[in-house]
Amino acid sequence: MPRDKVILAYSGGLDTSVMVPWIREKYNLDVITFTADLGQGEDLEQIRQKALKTGAIDAIAVDARNLFVDCFVFPALMAGALYEGKYPLATALGRPLIAKLMVDAARQHQAKAVAHGCTGKGNDQVRFDVTFQTLAPDLKIIAPVREWSMTRPEALAYAARHHIPVEATVESPYSIDQNLWGRSCEAGVLEDPWDEPPADAFAWTVDPAQAPDEPEYVDIEFERGVPVALNGSRLEGVPLIEKLNALGGKHGVGRIDHVENRLVGIKSRELYEAPAAVILHDAHRELETLCLSKQAARFKTLVSQEYADLIYNGLWFSAFHQDLFQFVLSNQRFVTGTVRVKLFKGRATVVGRKSDFSLYSKKLATYAEKSDFDQSAAQGFIKIFGLGQQTQAQRQLLAGGKGFDLPGLPRTKD
Ligand code: ARG
Repeated sequence: MPRDKVILAYSGGLDTSVMVPWIREKYNLDVITFTADLGQGEDLEQIRQKALKTGAIDAIAVDARNLFVDCFVFPALMAGALYEGKYPLATALGRPLIAKLMVDAARQHQAKAVAHGCTGKGNDQVRFDVTFQTLAPDLKIIAPVREWSMTRPEALAYAARHHIPVEATVESPYSIDQNLWGRSCEAGVLEDPWDEPPADAFAWTVDPAQAPDEPEYVDIEFERGVPVALNGSRLEGVPLIEKLNALGGKHGVGRIDHVENRLVGIKSRELYEAPAAVILHDAHRELETLCLSKQAARFKTLVSQEYADLIYNGLWFSAFHQDLFQFVLSNQRFVTGTVRVKLFKGRATVVGRKSDFSLYSKKLATYAEKSDFDQSAAQGFIKIFGLGQQTQAQRQLLAGGKGFDLPGLPRTKD
């Protein structure tokens, strides 16, 4: 009788390689590996070959970079989604896409199960499982690392017993995940939030102290909230992000040291490198200062927070997300223009912004020449604007003649 099949999310690293024979032995399933290129810069064909050598009956590899950018990364950018105001969500955005593509593969190959290599302590297991559970509740979910208790030496011994090729690479002291939108690095010495990240924790960015002594400028053009050109030349999303990652990295831009609140209740110290994401989020936010009304910009901060949370928490495939996205699309319809960013010694500074839809009016704002602003109208406006506070002060705060009780810290020593 032919065995049932499982689609395994496969990176080609030690853990997922060991999973191929392990799942077969433990669950009596034929393993089909699944690897998606999200711009992590690895050779997919080499990974496929390794999977087949390790005992997979089939090995799927797909280039999902355009899909990742168009349907995940740019919507998140338009939404201003930064988890806890800092993390651009590279890993968190990749997981629902990988999980969805795995469900598609499971259908195509009539697989009965899906599997991933996430631990039981992180967010990624949640993002995978919730997506599987939402899109295909009939599929069994297998998460070997949550079940087995293999240490690294045991995994190596297991690999040797099953003739799994293990590259003689120097073992990284960190746990790394990366895609086009950023690199994350955790564990090892980073587990002490007091310790400064050592140089070997970084791979995409130079130490800002070693960055070029000359600043570099880049003009970023946006259309409806989407970046479409750099320095006047139009680029597709993938090469645009790649270019900014290289440019930012060269100037030490995009390092983020974040003690974050995981969904599973643990605080974790995470080190991110995301030059393109940092530059684009800054530039995009600055363009919004020209193009969004005061109310829209203010409300957008709430939307950004909700959006970041739903991405972080693995709720990408929700009706709420569809609704929020419609708001974002509409909210971005006038966010078209150009932002000039200066890259220098670890910082990306917006130094200029312009838009045909700009709400900024020099004729209203200027002090230099005759302005369109009717200053005589200000007097009546202020009278009414301050009326509520004036009334309350008279009736309550100043009643009794003791004067205004000034909020502030009492001086203890004098
Ligand atoms: N903390 C981040 C997140 O939950 C990144 C996790 C990526 N994994 C890693 N091995 N560094 O999205």
